[in-house]
Amino acid sequence: MPAAAGGDHVHVFADLDALTAAAARRFVEDAREAIAARGRFIVCISGGDTPRPLYERLAHFSHGDATSDVAWSRVHVFWADERCVPPDDERSNYRMAREAWLEHVAIPADHVHRLRGEIDPRAAAAEYDIELHAFAGADLVLLGLGEDGHTASLFPHSPAVVERREDVARDRWVRAEHVASVAMWRLTLTPAVINRARDVVFLVAGARKAARVKEVIEGPPAPDALPAQAIRPDDGRLSWFLDEAAAGLLRGRRPTNPPA
Ligand code: 6PG
Repeated sequence: MPAAAGGDHVHVFADLDALTAAAARRFVEDAREAIAARGRFIVCISGGDTPRPLYERLAHFSHGDATSDVAWSRVHVFWADERCVPPDDERSNYRMAREAWLEHVAIPADHVHRLRGEIDPRAAAAEYDIELHAFAGADLVLLGLGEDGHTASLFPHSPAVVERREDVARDRWVRAEHVASVAMWRLTLTPAVINRARDVVFLVAGARKAARVKEVIEGPPAPDALPAQAIRPDDGRLSWFLDEAAAGLLRGRRPTNPPA
């Protein structure tokens, strides 16, 4: 397995389809392991365009197929971030995941733990902090990377990034922030909880991400400016699933993984 500086695992796939197939396999492996060991699987998911095909794929896994069967009744879904809009708004990360995936599988309704974007953002963050603490963190966190280096809704130089050590000390897992660059309130998990996960996977595709991918993976540490660099799991595994276009500027050529 190729490892980048810092010990991250970098996997390069020919295209978004191959990346998606590999992410689905990782989801199933992690789910099986967590359910066998602890009776449940806690996954935190992101919004954006890149993971949508993964969610669609998970929706169409057929039961009884040994390679893709997931005990959906044991799965709990949380969100890594949310836009402060009602759940039926087209910008809602909850809505995207529900339509692409969740409404097509037998996940019990009370296992779908959405961030309430429609209420006061600070109240929504506070209630989610309590809800997530009741589950003691995540087995798998799926993240994306923005062209400005953001991940989840951890934006460059935002308090959630700059005050990350304080959040670890205070055990603060969820924050609400107004993000000027997108002109809206966002709710986000903090590095304090993401870094406690057993497995963290970045899904990144497309040439427009290539320069930022290189900077985050191979550049000098500057996590205040590049929030994705603040994601360093304490004991868990960190992986980058990239398509060839997003990996195009990385030093040396990493072998492209064979198609699924
Ligand atoms: C969000 C996301 C965000 C996303 C990146 C990458 O709600 O906007 O959770 O962090 O993952 O912006 O988005 P794309 O996959 O669309 O490039």
